[in-house]
Amino acid sequence: MTGIAVLGSTNMDLVTYVARAPELGETVTGREFRTVPGGKGANQAVAAARAGGDVMMIGAVGDDEYGAELRAGLEHAGVDTDLLHTVEGPSGTAHIVVDDTGGNAIVVIPGANGTVTSIGPGEVAAIAGADLLLLQLELPLSAVVAGAQAARAHGVRTILTPSPVQELPPELLAVVDVLVPNEHEAAALSGCSEPHAAAEVLLHRVPEVVITLGAKGCLYAARDAEAVLFPAPEVEAVDTTGAGDTFVGALSVALGEGRPVPEALAWASSAAALCVQRPGASTSMPYRSEIDGA
Ligand code: RIB
Repeated sequence: MTGIAVLGSTNMDLVTYVARAPELGETVTGREFRTVPGGKGANQAVAAARAGGDVMMIGAVGDDEYGAELRAGLEHAGVDTDLLHTVEGPSGTAHIVVDDTGGNAIVVIPGANGTVTSIGPGEVAAIAGADLLLLQLELPLSAVVAGAQAARAHGVRTILTPSPVQELPPELLAVVDVLVPNEHEAAALSGCSEPHAAAEVLLHRVPEVVITLGAKGCLYAARDAEAVLFPAPEVEAVDTTGAGDTFVGALSVALGEGRPVPEALAWASSAAALCVQRPGASTSMPYRSEIDGA
């Protein structure tokens, strides 16, 4: 089984479903409200566990009701939460509007995630014992850098989802193996809106880049090979929340199993396509048998 450590966020997603997202200053009536366990880190952990990985979640929840629910959700998915600390104060929340195209807009309030500024010996040991480390940018950058450096020191491959996008310091880029931005993040990081051009710029900073392009699929680029566009399965999206996290979780399992990159990307794309056809983040992530059968 692929051992995957996730150093990242847990959020309770407060999701409103509405025909059209409101403009600033406008009030609209929505259709439905749901609370769904989410957070980019926890989503990737659940996706990887359901895809067949042996997953350890590193991070923090608050000592509120959401915190207990977030921990229980991860445990229910089979994720080890021994290093998911409970801290005083509120858990992270994400305020999400999903419109009729399935697209979303998200505001994250870090809560407990903001307290994870460093990692201790237990976290370093967990990372050292994994095959891959998954990172995102919903924890303070100091912890993300420390985690990636620990992974590099122990020969563990790192996959970074640069979201919410921000400038990436050289000490982080120096220890990232695979960068997985969406097309907006790739454009923001590279200054190029065209994905091939963006990938070329980003390859000067990290050895491998996968730019996720939503319904258009993904672009894979590595320093030693031609960039390749992998199409996504054609499906009707109802909620794209967590699709990128599902992609990364499944990709990490496939890569950890030593599958060739094209096969791993196709498998991860199938997982993401299943995710967008169902509402919610962690609730929509497929199990391995579903991905195999897609
Ligand atoms: O990537 C989707 C996630 O982003 C949501 O679950 C939300 O919590 C935000 O972190």
